[in-house]
This record gives sequence, C-alpha cells and structure tokens, in this order.
Amino acid sequence: MTPKHPIDSLTTLTDLVLPSETNPLNNLFGGELLARMDRAASIAARRHSRRIVVTASVNHVAFNRSIPLGSVVTIEAKVSRAFTSSMEIFLDVWIEDRESGNKTKANEAIYTFVAVDETGNPVAVPPLEPQTEEEKSRFDAALRRKQLSLVLAGKMNPHDATELKALFL
Ligand SMILES: CC(C)(COP(=O)(O)OP(=O)(O)OC[C@H]1O[C@@H](n2cnc3c(N)ncnc32)[C@H](O)[C@@H]1OP(=O)(O)O)[C@@H](O)C(=O)NCCC(=O)NCCS
Repeated sequence: MTPKHPIDSLTTLTDLVLPSETNPLNNLFGGELLARMDRAASIAARRHSRRIVVTASVNHVAFNRSIPLGSVVTIEAKVSRAFTSSMEIFLDVWIEDRESGNKTKANEAIYTFVAVDETGNPVAVPPLEPQTEEEKSRFDAALRRKQLSLVLAGKMNPHDATELKALFL
C-alpha cells in the first residue's frame, strides 16, 4: 500500500461550549470532550485508511485546563502512526480567546482505532510516513504506547513489551 502522511488525515473540528454541555462550575464536561475527540479521531482514522474504523482504546487523556462555557473549542486530530490494522491518533485541543483570536492549547489525547471490514474483522491500513519533527517524535513513541495499552488490556505479556522494558534498562 502507498504510504500516507499525517497531513492526509488532518481533521479539524470547531464548535462552541453550550450550557447543556457543562458541569456545575460552568466548564465543559470531560465526557463531552471525550466524545468530540472520538468523532474527530474517527474521521482522521477513516481518512488515513478509507475503511470502516472502530475505537479500540483511549490511551491517554490530559485534562490540563478547564474549558469555560461559551468557549470556541478546536480539536485537531491526525494519525501519528499506523501499524497493521491499528492506527494511533493524536489529538490537540485548543481554545480561542474571544477578543484577540489567539489560540491556547487546552488538552491533548491519544486514541487507537482499528480498521475493519463489513463483518468487523481487522484489515490492513497504509503505512504512515511522518514529515515534521513533531510528527517524527510522536511516531517514534507510538510503539511504546501501543505496547503499554496492550499490556494494560491484558492482550500482551509484559515480557514481550520490548519498548517498555527498554525504558527501564
Ligand atoms: C478493536 C477490535 C476490532 C480489535 O479486535 P481484536 O480481536 O483484538 O483483533 P486483533 O487482536 O487482531 O487486534 C487488531 C489490532 O488492534 C490492536 N489492539 C487491540 N486492542 C488494543 C488496545 N487495547 N490498545 C491498542 N491496540 C489494540 C492490536 O494490537 C491490533 O493492531 P495491529 O493489527 O495494528 O497490530 C475489537 O476489539 C472490537 O471490535 N472492539 C469493539 C470496538 C468498538 O465497538 N468500539 C466502540 C466502543 S463503544
């Protein structure tokens, strides 16, 4: 399969925070942000693979900053590495200052999607070639994150997690 670049899957979702999507402190619900990120990530995975895709795992979420009612929230999702049938999607979440229009990074997350056929069986996806320095660094660390996710899910024996073991040697 012809390799693709992260830019090919870039997905940008911009939306407002409405009152029904907030907690008692008038900030965006974590679950609402997770759902928005899932949507953006699924579109990115679909753009990379051009297949049906399903969420396999949410590997990492950092709610570093609260997102107030009325904020304009932009989620950028890109495939950061493709394996055989699975793809790691990196998400950056930005909020926009109303007056200046300046964007501030609010949160980030990493999801794993798997491409499947019509009966739900995993199918191969194109490889990914990172281009920018940030894309290369995310690509390089993705195998470690995949192994950690598989170990935590009980799908990989920790003894086989070579990338994780290398961290501690
Ligand atoms: C995701 C799913 C297709 C994986 O099926 P499976 O039987 O585990 O298939 P495999 O073991 O062949 O794994 C397929 C790929 O998923 C990866 N994978 C599976 N579980 C994973 C996890 N927890 N974290 C990271 N990767 C995972 C495997 O490493 C493999 O990747 P590769 O082909 O790139 O090497 C299957 O579990 C599924 O359909 N889950 C439900 C998905 C869904 O409905 N999501 C929405 C939830 S509401």
